[in-house]
Amino acid sequence: MFTRFRRRRIHPVLRNLVEESRLSTDDFIYPLFVRSGSGIRDEVASMPGVYQMSIDEAVKECDTLKSLGLHAVILFGIPDTKDSVGSEAMCEHGIIAEAVRAIKKAHPEMLVITDLCFCEYTDHGHCGVLDPVLETVDNDITLDNLARQAVVHARSGVDMIAPSGMMDGMIQAIRHGLDAAGYVNTPIMSYSTKFASAYYGPFRDVAESAPSFGDRRSYQMNPANRREAIAESVTDEAEGADILMVKPALAYMDIIRDVREHTTLPLAVYNVSGEYSMLKMAARAGVIDYERVMMETLLGFKRAGADIIITYHAKEAAALLHKEYDQQ
Ligand code: PBG
Ligand code: ZN
Repeated sequence: MFTRFRRRRIHPVLRNLVEESRLSTDDFIYPLFVRSGSGIRDEVASMPGVYQMSIDEAVKECDTLKSLGLHAVILFGIPDTKDSVGSEAMCEHGIIAEAVRAIKKAHPEMLVITDLCFCEYTDHGHCGVLDPVLETVDNDITLDNLARQAVVHARSGVDMIAPSGMMDGMIQAIRHGLDAAGYVNTPIMSYSTKFASAYYGPFRDVAESAPSFGDRRSYQMNPANRREAIAESVTDEAEGADILMVKPALAYMDIIRDVREHTTLPLAVYNVSGEYSMLKMAARAGVIDYERVMMETLLGFKRAGADIIITYHAKEAAALLHKEYDQQ
C-alpha cells in the first residue's frame, strides 16, 4: 500500500479546490518614488520598470494601478535639499507631504502609506540624527523627530505610517506622537524585523539614500539572528504596532514563518529591490521564465505566512492574475 497524492493532481478543478495558498491583488502594496518637478518619469538603470516620478506622474500612475485592481501604495520621497537632521522630512511642504495631499485628492479611495525614515533626507544618508561621538544614529533624539515626521504625514492625510529606521522604541514614540495630535485612528505598519541587507542596493540608487560613510549595521539587524528577529517583531507589537513586517523576504522565509507563529497581528513582507532586480536581470539574460518565477516567488511569501506583500512586481503580477481569471 502507498499513498496516491497524484489522484488530487489530475483534474485542474480539483487541483484548485485543494490549493492551500493563493495570491490576490488585494495582497499587494506598490512602492512609488516621488520627487519635485513635473512630467518627470525617470527609469532607474538598476531597477528596470521602476521610476522616479514627479507628483503629477505619481497621480497618473495611480490610475494605472487602479485599472489593475491595485489600491495600496507606499511612498518614498527624494527631496531637493538634504541636511544633517533631514529637515525636509518634517516640513509641511516637503515632497512626501505634498505627494500625499495630491494623491489623496485625486484618488481618495486609494490607501496611501508613507515610509517613515530619514535616510533619504540626511546629507550623511543615515536613518536619523548622528551622535558625534559614536558616529552612528542617536536613537532617542531620532525618536522625537520620527514622531514629528509622523504627525506631518498624518496632517497631510496619510492612511498608514510605516517606520523603517529600526530605532528602539520607535513604535511607542510614534504612537504617542500621533495620539497626542489626535490621530488615534492612523495605523502603524512597522518594519519590525529589518535586516542589514545587501539586497537594498538598487533601492538606494532609486531613492538616492546610500550612507555616505559606514553602513547600517548599528541599527538594522544581523542576518544571522533568528531569536532576535522574533523579539524585534514581538516588541513592536507590544509597543502598539498594527501590522508587523519582515524585510527582506526571499532569504528570510524562515523568519516570516517564525514571526507568523509568534504574533496574531497581520504580517507584511517586503520583497526588496535586489530581489526584484535579480529576476529582471535573469529574465534579460534569458535564463528564467520571468512570469512563472515571479509568481512562484510571491506565492512562496504567502505560504511562508505573509498576509501582505510589498513588491515592485505588483503591476505585472496583477496583470497576470487578471489574465488567469479571464481564462477560467
Ligand atoms: C529606508 C528604506 C530602505 C528600504 C525601504 N525603506 C533602505 C535601507 O534601509 O537602506 C529598502 C527597500 C528595497 O530595497 O526595496 N530605511
Ligand atoms: Zn532609513
